[in-house]
Amino acid sequence: MTVAGINKICVVGAGNMGHQIALSAALAGYKVVCTDISPEILAKAEQFADTYLPERVAKGKLSEEAAKAARANISFTSDLKEAAGDADLVIEAILEKLELKRKVFAQLDEICPPHTILATNSSFIVSSKIVDVTNRPGKVCNMHFFNPALVMKLVEVVKGPHTSEETAGTVMEVCKSMGKIPVLLQKEIYGFLVNRILAAINQEALYLYDMGIASYEDIDNAVVYALGHPMGPFRLMDLTGIDLSYYIGMERYQETGDPTHKPSPIVVEKFVKKEWGRKTGKGFYDYSKK
Ligand code: 3HC
Repeated sequence: MTVAGINKICVVGAGNMGHQIALSAALAGYKVVCTDISPEILAKAEQFADTYLPERVAKGKLSEEAAKAARANISFTSDLKEAAGDADLVIEAILEKLELKRKVFAQLDEICPPHTILATNSSFIVSSKIVDVTNRPGKVCNMHFFNPALVMKLVEVVKGPHTSEETAGTVMEVCKSMGKIPVLLQKEIYGFLVNRILAAINQEALYLYDMGIASYEDIDNAVVYALGHPMGPFRLMDLTGIDLSYYIGMERYQETGDPTHKPSPIVVEKFVKKEWGRKTGKGFYDYSKK
């Protein structure tokens, strides 16, 4: 059941996270418009919807009716005004660059009606760094999904000092209506819950690799076969994007000045070579021959 008052959701950014967040919302019964400035990324997102839904039906995981309804619920446009103009909730999932996010939130604040909730899916940028470009502080918060967003159940809902109880409550309910398990953070903290824990694991894994102690395949095997994680840290960085690991490291270093927060040498090397993981066909592992 969808949440009262939230009929249309706009997802800004159709990349790694956005296209799956949008489809999750469409599957939950919301009218969704997915938008991106890149026509190529948008086309890829639409193509994903067109293959993913029939695949779920063929697998017996989704009824034909539900797939049809979800496909009818979702549309794609590169026109932000058209996408967000009558949305009740906007989920921003663009690049992890603060200035870009501030620009988009300022645009959204102009485009959207006053009741619209503006949420950011940022992995680490708290909404209080963005909120001042809007005139609706109570309606701004973090809503952080995990990759792959169609599969991972957790969503972190983070309340800034400006976020109203009502907004946090509505966003929590929307997450539940999408079949997610939301957790509410009452205070902002860099990296929220999951990325703080993940950063600790990644930092150690990268240290072990950079010190020449073990290969990344063996470090991944250690984490999967001894700790029972579904994926080792290197495979996971390939999934979430090594570019993202780089941005997270740089942002954190700039904030803390602590050199241990800088991206590790191998992350810098992969970033410069544009070997960002699955999205570029190569990261720590090679995906070109799939
Ligand atoms: N997109 C959509 N669905 C996918 C998918 C993808 N990229 N990859 C796998 N799936 C689905 C499959 O269709 C399958 O669905 P079904 O069981 O309903 O048929 C299910 O996931 C299992 O897939 P597989 O059997 O192919 O593969 P695995 O069992 O190895 O699971 C995985 C793949 C779900 C990705 C699993 O390895 C996993 O959970 N990995 C850890 C992911 C994780 O830790 N994510 C959080 C990252 S941190 C983050 O996102 C924060 C950000 O800020 C950086």
